[in-house]
Amino acid sequence: MSEETPKATVDMDTLASLCKRRGFIFPSSEIYGGFESTWDYGPLGVELKQNVKRAWWKAMVQERDDIVGLDASILMNPRVWEASGHTTHFTDTLVECQRCHHRFRADELKSAPGGCPECEGPLTEARQFNTMFKTFVGPVEDEASVAYLRPETAQGIFVNFENVLTATRRKLPFGIAQQGKEFRNEITTGNFIFRTREFEAMEMEFFCKPGTDDEWYQYWRQERLNWYLRFGVRKENIRLREYAPEERAHYSSGTTDVEYLYPMGWAELEGIANRTDYDLRRHAEMSGRRLEFFDEETGEHIVPYVVEPAAGVDRCVLIFLLDAYHEEEVRGEKRVILRLHPYLAPIKVAVLPLSRNEQLVPAARRVWDLLRPRFMTQYDDAQSIGRRYRRQDEVGTPLCVTVDFDTLEDQAVTIRERDSMEQVRVPIANLEQALRERLPEV
Ligand code: GAP
Repeated sequence: MSEETPKATVDMDTLASLCKRRGFIFPSSEIYGGFESTWDYGPLGVELKQNVKRAWWKAMVQERDDIVGLDASILMNPRVWEASGHTTHFTDTLVECQRCHHRFRADELKSAPGGCPECEGPLTEARQFNTMFKTFVGPVEDEASVAYLRPETAQGIFVNFENVLTATRRKLPFGIAQQGKEFRNEITTGNFIFRTREFEAMEMEFFCKPGTDDEWYQYWRQERLNWYLRFGVRKENIRLREYAPEERAHYSSGTTDVEYLYPMGWAELEGIANRTDYDLRRHAEMSGRRLEFFDEETGEHIVPYVVEPAAGVDRCVLIFLLDAYHEEEVRGEKRVILRLHPYLAPIKVAVLPLSRNEQLVPAARRVWDLLRPRFMTQYDDAQSIGRRYRRQDEVGTPLCVTVDFDTLEDQAVTIRERDSMEQVRVPIANLEQALRERLPEV
């Protein structure tokens, strides 16, 4: 992580507290004291997370003519991980304090040479630690039944390369995209949902002809940066950083991180790697299958090169929240507002009767009934209308619809916009259209 002075508008504790209070993200197993940096997504968090995944799928699959989707299983034949190199290379270097027995990643202690950062005790020699989670398949717990929880979704794509090629009759270049859970037995976790042992990934393997790989690598670096900007991330908070050769993974001939300026400094958000033909060649060797593309025009058998953009869903959720968080003063009061892109906002429209009046509540509920099948909505009639606007601002709801006493006469309602706080009167008959115009498709 860089030492640069953080510019984030919110610190991680404030964000984590908002997330818990408003139902975005809860500490897992909290009634038992929590569990090892694991987190659960609450009613608003699950909406935000799904919207992030949908935004990625839209850009990476739906809008393109050269990428298809896949959903492979988490448990795979353990030979997959031998072929990919994970059983030997997927390691972190671990040191342990001989006094307090805290464990650290050796690379994170570079800036603190000497003793243990917790108690200054002596540290053990560094040793390699494989970060794959091991389990057993079936009732017998022996070496023959060992399996791993996948540490990356990418291998599910490589082992299905032949199936997808045959089923879809694709030509190079083409990509296979996948979203799903990954597990890594990280030595250190923390910074809220930044680094956890269970997380979700969005990965795409783009298969191309050797010799065109660098062009595609450059293309995907820019394309992925643009995706974050498209969904509202502020330019000054995001950048690309190319790895030095010694930093790259064993399979990579070029790696770039999309980095974000977190409260703790610049750090990785997404990795884009040129994985060469490493994975397909290794799986072909181990499985005895020809994992190649046959070019009918030239009569050549080609082992494609692969360019991979790999993003973490949870890290995306985190940076969209950090980037959206604003505090401002309105008429002498603090207004906390999540300026989330409307496409990502968990709730698109809140329906609010001006008060709990016995005529307004049923009228507002009728408006809610009308909107519910069309938008993700929320109904709220507790406390003053001003407080309810603030509550919706705090969770990023772009539009509120207010039902007042005039509604009973003129069959019109007020739309209030989150960012400008402007209000406009609209007939209920035109409400759906008016809301759609204010919730732009991306
Ligand atoms: N298949 C390539 C690959 O897995 P990676 O850079 O190790 O690459 C990709 O991981 C992304 O997954 C990271 O950029 C990050 O967003 C996310 N990620 C990795 N480890 C994570 C962890 N322990 N907790 C949360 N997200 C993580």
